Formats: sequence, structure tokens, C-alpha cells
Amino acid sequence: APHTVQAYRASLLHFHADPAFTENAYSWHQDGLLIVEDGRIKAAGDYAALGPTLPDGVVPHDYRGQIITPGFIDTHLHYPQTDMIASPSEGLLPWLETYTFPTERRFSDPAHARATAEFFLDELTRCGTTTAVVYCTVHRESVDAFFEASEARNLRMVAGKVLMDRNCPDFLRDAEGQIGESEALINKWHKHNRSLYAITPRFAPTSSTAQLGAIAELAKAFPDTFIQTHVSENKDECSWVRELFPDSRSYLGVYDGYGLMRPRALFGHCIWLDDEDFARMAATGSAASVCPTSNLFLGSGLFDFEKADGAGVQVTLGTDVGAGTSFSMLQTMNEAYKVARLKGSHLPALRMFYLATLGAARAMDLEGTIGSFVVGAEADFIVLDPQSTPLLARRSSHCNTLEEQLFALALLGDDRAIRATYAAGAKVHERSGALA
Ligand code: GUN
Ligand code: ZN
Repeated sequence: APHTVQAYRASLLHFHADPAFTENAYSWHQDGLLIVEDGRIKAAGDYAALGPTLPDGVVPHDYRGQIITPGFIDTHLHYPQTDMIASPSEGLLPWLETYTFPTERRFSDPAHARATAEFFLDELTRCGTTTAVVYCTVHRESVDAFFEASEARNLRMVAGKVLMDRNCPDFLRDAEGQIGESEALINKWHKHNRSLYAITPRFAPTSSTAQLGAIAELAKAFPDTFIQTHVSENKDECSWVRELFPDSRSYLGVYDGYGLMRPRALFGHCIWLDDEDFARMAATGSAASVCPTSNLFLGSGLFDFEKADGAGVQVTLGTDVGAGTSFSMLQTMNEAYKVARLKGSHLPALRMFYLATLGAARAMDLEGTIGSFVVGAEADFIVLDPQSTPLLARRSSHCNTLEEQLFALALLGDDRAIRATYAAGAKVHERSGALA
């Protein structure tokens, strides 16, 4: 078959290292050209150098004045909680009882699950997120519906069936110790098209030791699957885990004891970890998924970015919808910045854009596949519009550095700043009603 080549002219930004630890961590091409062949990156560089290399007849899409970056990667959120986003509650545990469990109950219905998944994916792509690590519900139907919807859009998505067999309503309970459905779902979806599977114990309080043991076996049998769970989000939750697992050194230690800390293990929140926990995160190659809009909304606490960096822990950003209050990774950066400020530190915008792209890809062992414009990577990218609102346009006209421009986008931007979203080289979202 003939090769399909497309080219995009804009400013280009992507990373090859973590700007917190490396100088020259990124590439910036003010007048750049991104060349995509058969859904993968063929070249990214200066327009002046690459323009003449284009095959005859290939006319670049003109996105001058906009910034193209790799699509955002959201490492923690719950698609079944879309309908209950912004539900008021006095903290995590009452929020789960009052809103979450009744909402998740409906996902035994494949039609409801599919319709919610479609809305959810619309919303993610509108916000410039091209990869997400997603909790489904305990129902296998919720996983089938999600991957059917994401594969129809050719998105690289990670998801899994929630595992819980205690301390939850009967209508959301696995048979004690049950794991077989997850194994069947791994065989069906893991590495099928662009889908990847995450073994998904909800959190330690809702799995019996029998189920945790079975999860340990499953994780061992499928070492390249993801693992996702929650840890040390809320103080009441932490006390509850101490009561349920009195022999464990810490909350994180429960997962550690079952061999669930490893590369491709993503731990949501990580707010109340101690020094030894942080050291174990680093030593095992596990990653923290930091969810600032959720943590501020539920009043869970403030993640310590400086401590995590000092310990060498891989850090990523998640929205945690529906406890998170936005699907936008720009708004997630906005809140991350303020959380870091309250801990006395400063998160540069360049660092936050790294965390939302290459940093997440690395933490997920997907470097070279997503998160950057290295040759051969999948062409998941977004077109950011610094003129997308009157205020952002006015602020952008006064930005003197790339850092200032990215900072303004992170603090003031949301879905309106996403002019277009591409997945594997195909446009999956274009903003209507653009001002310019
Ligand atoms: N801990 C256990 N389940 C959940 C959930 O659905 N959301 C959040 N934020 N924390 C949890
Ligand atoms: Zn969560």
C-alpha cells in the first residue's frame, strides 16, 4: 500500500529528559514541522530544514501561531464516575458510600457502560488527553464497553476491571478471592490493537487477603500488564488500613507484601507515605499518580513533589475524575502548581508538561511509543492555542519566554486551549467556534 504522509506546521515542543534533573531536556522549534507517516512520527524539526524533504504534493496543515506537543497522558481516573463529578461530600469514605458505589452499580448494563465510555472519551480528547489509565467497575461488561469504544477511535488506552470482595455493597462484590474474570479480560484486551490492561484492586480495604493473594499470582503470570490502585489518600482511610492490616509496616507495605510494587505499577495519590515508602516506590520502579484537583476537592492532603523527587520516585499526573474536578490536564497542572506552592516548592511549567507527556510515558514503560516526537513513536499529538480565550490571548501577548507561555497555558487553559487532537495520525477532535 502507498504510504500516507501528513505534515503540520506550528511551534513544536517535546521532551527527551526530565527538566528537573537535566539541562537541554526538551526540543523547541519556533517555526517547526511535524511529519507523520502511517500514523507514526517520521520527523520533527525546523520547517526550514524539513519543508524541502516533503514528498511532492504534501502540503502542510498550517497551524502557525499554535504549539504542537505530544498528547497528554492522564495516569489515574474512573470512567464510570463521569456522571457524579462534582458531587459534594465530607471526604473520601462518605463520598464512596454516598455517590460512587450507587453510580458504579449501573455498569452491569453494557448499553449504559458504552454510552458513558463514549462521552468520557469525547471529553478526554476535547481536553487533549490521548492516553489515560482508567478504572472501570467490578463488572466485566464495563471493561468490554470501554475498550470497544476506545478501539473504535484507535486510542492507546490502559484500563481494567475493579477488584473488590469485601467492605463494599453486595451489588459490587466479587466472589471471595475471585480473579478469573480479570485473567479472561487480560487475554482478551491486553495488547489487542492499542489497548493495554491494568490489574485493578480498588484499594487494600476492599480486597480480602485471599483476593490479594490471587492478584499477586495474576500479576506474576502477566508481568507486562499494568497494576493500578489507590494508596495513602486520606487520613481516615490510612487508619482503617492500619486496623485491617495490623501486621503491615505501612499502607503501601500491604501492596509490597503481595509483590504488587514493580515497573508499570501506578499508585494513586501517595499523600501520606513515609520516607521508607518513598524509598520503596523508587527501588521497585513503581510510579506515583498525583491527583491535585481530587486531593483539594476531597480535602485529602497535599502531595510532596520535592520529597518524591529527592527520593527518585517516578511522578505522574492524574485527574482522578470523578473525585477530580476537571478532565483537563492543563487544569490539573494549575492545581499541581498550587499544591507544590503550599509545600514551599515551585513546579515550573516545563516540568509539568514533561510530567504530562514523556514523564508519564517513561513511568509506564512506554517511552518510544507515546509521549514524545522521537522517530517511530505513535503520532498522538495536540495543537495548543495560546489565543483560545480573550484573557489567554492578552496574557500570551506579554509572555517573553517559553516557560511564561506554558505557565499561562497551564494556569489559564482548559479544553478551550485544545485546538485539535490527533491519535495515531488521525484527527479525533477539532474545536468548534475557534476565535482565530
Ligand atoms: N479509593 C478507593 N476508591 C476510590 C475512588 O473511586 N476514588 C478515589 N479518589 N479514591 C478511592
Ligand atoms: Zn481514583
